[in-house]
Amino acid sequence: MCGIVGYIGDGIANNVLLEGLKKLEYRGYDSCGIATIVGGTFDVFKTTKRIDGLVQYAKKAPESHIGLGHTRWATHGGVNEKNAHPHISNSKKIAVVHNGIIENYITLREMLKSKGFTFMSDTDTEVISNLIEYYYKGNLLEATKKAVDMVEGSYALGIMCIDEPNEIVVTKRNSPLIVGLGDGENFIASDFSAILKYTNRISVLENDEFAVIEKNGMAFFDKNAEPRGNEIKIIGAKENDVEKNGYDHFMLKEINESTITIKNTLSEYLKDDKIKFDLKLTNEELKNINQIHIVACGTAMHAGLNGKNIIEKLTRIPVNVEVASEFRYKNPILKENDLVIFISQSGETADTIASIELVKEKNIKFISIVNVKESTIDRMSENILYTRAGAEIAVASTKAYVAQVCVIDLFAIYLAQILKTVSDKVLKSLILELKNIHEKVQAALEDDKKYIEYAKKIKDDKSVFFLGRGIDYYIALEASLKLKEISYIHSEATQFGELKHGPIALIEEGTNSIVVSTDKRLRSKVYSNIKEIKARGANVLLITNEKSPQPEFYDDIIELPEVNELFSPIVAIVPLQLVAYHVTILKGLDVDKPRNLAKSVTVE
Ligand code: M6R
Repeated sequence: MCGIVGYIGDGIANNVLLEGLKKLEYRGYDSCGIATIVGGTFDVFKTTKRIDGLVQYAKKAPESHIGLGHTRWATHGGVNEKNAHPHISNSKKIAVVHNGIIENYITLREMLKSKGFTFMSDTDTEVISNLIEYYYKGNLLEATKKAVDMVEGSYALGIMCIDEPNEIVVTKRNSPLIVGLGDGENFIASDFSAILKYTNRISVLENDEFAVIEKNGMAFFDKNAEPRGNEIKIIGAKENDVEKNGYDHFMLKEINESTITIKNTLSEYLKDDKIKFDLKLTNEELKNINQIHIVACGTAMHAGLNGKNIIEKLTRIPVNVEVASEFRYKNPILKENDLVIFISQSGETADTIASIELVKEKNIKFISIVNVKESTIDRMSENILYTRAGAEIAVASTKAYVAQVCVIDLFAIYLAQILKTVSDKVLKSLILELKNIHEKVQAALEDDKKYIEYAKKIKDDKSVFFLGRGIDYYIALEASLKLKEISYIHSEATQFGELKHGPIALIEEGTNSIVVSTDKRLRSKVYSNIKEIKARGANVLLITNEKSPQPEFYDDIIELPEVNELFSPIVAIVPLQLVAYHVTILKGLDVDKPRNLAKSVTVE
């Protein structure tokens, strides 16, 4: 979604802003802009083209040492230059970049209109620049505080003022914002990746806090605009993490990083073949769990469905998986001894964050599975299990899913150990299998030529079916999401047994159907279902870990290494991610930045 970067220092502001915006491109955007201060006025340039449009301008632009940049993902108002950020106030004194949504912008706009302000754009953001101007009496921090006190909604704001050209003021509520400390220069950003090239010394702003950033220093203020201490942390991430490292696309690089991701994630919690979690939940509390709820969005929710499968099988504790945008508004039934597990790669997903707030209010125990350290969810959770996927840049989540599944699998085994619902011998063998699963993923990665051939078959399709039963249906759901979000081919995942209750009406001569079959117990049922769709003309790609199945059950086949069905999502998803990738490349689409999508969904 929207991205913010800001700079103040001895360097050329535009250079830093453009590099930062380039790094933020992966979040998804439809227009972008920069503003710097030059000779007592703002030099502003906006475009609906890619960042390269700004680069052309910046080459000729006058030099400046302070500036703000923004990538906009349209919410209020269409995609055009007047709606792009930065927004400048009526007297051209204040410039603002904003991520989030101002919910009461209509009331504020009417109030400002009654005071004589006029509006150039259709955005909610323009009320902020004018509101700050309205309150400005020579102190930008003070005026910002007064303005945001009036605002309802979510925001991360970067603000410059012509009368105070040596500072940038920032504040945030429910939208991430960090400041970065350099030598003789300082930075602001909505995401570490934008400034990682320059510094890994950062401070994360909490809701309603403010910071004033100058060239040689920065000061932090609490929600009353009273000074608070400065806390700067060193972020472990390296710039390399956000480069393609020789791959054509981030998505391909990230799928290929699945093996190292699995090793890193498992080694975080597996010590001498024993699972060690640093949770503030006693064994007694874990033994008394009544029900588990897993709450997440998109791919992370699909990892949660895998969690339901393995936790229920190993512990017999009922698990309810909910989409966060539903959970937060449904007044969920939560009991004292329930446990909620939240899953998020970015740690910034608005609906997941709101669901955590709700669970906190009700005092229910919860654990968060998060990839990005220092993200909002990381900071609001007492019990954290990290996935060690490293930076995931492509919008389509791949290695993060694999890591989320690994962590949930470990948690299920850990719980079964405490509850003694499974024998030690079986648990040991599960741990051993998980420890070596990266080898099977590596084997699946090596069959790439086959995936390209299959991608050629389906690239011109209008619709593709993904079918499976049990855990294989959950894999089908994730595979279907992958294909549709990047290739724009409509796809539908259906529980195979449900097909004849309706969807089979859509199967006709040549309908490409991808069948996932890793659960031996259900295989004969799956084969009967395959016969039914083949009888109606479907072409079947069978993804299976059965050795040499009868050719009558498939037209194409992807043979997976032998894998316990409890862990099959980790292995089976990889070929399907690669098929989705190759289809998209064959169609000539932008695989890392699919249309309308953003990497982290920071608005609801
Ligand atoms: O950052 P999160 O894991 O909370 O994001 C949740 C979803 O937005 C995300 O998994 C999305 O579905 C994927 N980008 C799809 O590939």
